[in-house]
Amino acid sequence: MLLTICVFDAYGTLFDVNAAARTAANEPNRETFKEVWPSVSNIWRMKQLQYTWLRSITGSYIDFWSVTKNSLDYALEAHGLHENFDLKERLLALYWELQPYPEVSPMLKQLKTKGVKTAILSNGSPEMLSSAVKSSNLFEVIDEIISVEKVKVFKPSRLVYEQVENVIGCSKSEVLFVSSNGWDIAGAAGFGFETAWVNRSKEPIDRLPNKPTHILKNLATIPSFF
Ligand code: LAC
Repeated sequence: MLLTICVFDAYGTLFDVNAAARTAANEPNRETFKEVWPSVSNIWRMKQLQYTWLRSITGSYIDFWSVTKNSLDYALEAHGLHENFDLKERLLALYWELQPYPEVSPMLKQLKTKGVKTAILSNGSPEMLSSAVKSSNLFEVIDEIISVEKVKVFKPSRLVYEQVENVIGCSKSEVLFVSSNGWDIAGAAGFGFETAWVNRSKEPIDRLPNKPTHILKNLATIPSFF
């Protein structure tokens, strides 16, 4: 069947997860943080993902906002910064308005011009996702925001990918699923979606079953698949 629906992962794919720490590091009076922000940001993201997987496996779901706060606590403590409450509050506030990558808005506009249906499928809570979409002015070009909140389990559970068919009422063969997360692509490909892995930082391919259909440098060429 012809592709008619483009479904995007949110964090790391549309929205730059390093933007919060990068922005905070460039604010006044953050000399210590300026030196360590890339490491804090990296540990924050890695722990955030690990906690989603562990909570799914152990059946102890909490929402993605709680996971995001827990993982930031860990990352700050790993750098002796956990008592810097002002920094912590600032980083959390910035996470609600993460910047999109520069090509996101023009690419989504092109998809809409072509009549493609667009959606986000994310671990994020509905409030976090609405906030990120709103603050980046993407409301007009994203048709559906689908959160894991309804199924209360995180990616890469099949229950999450199934949400696309349930919410949009489409067949999986109509969907191109786009993510920067190799493990998310493996999950989506295993579910049966055509996939595009956006490999911005030239990472090695994950040694998991189900390889991506397409491998891209960024999101700019996504409209050419429709
Ligand atoms: C998401 C995570 C995987 O947006 O980044 O679902």
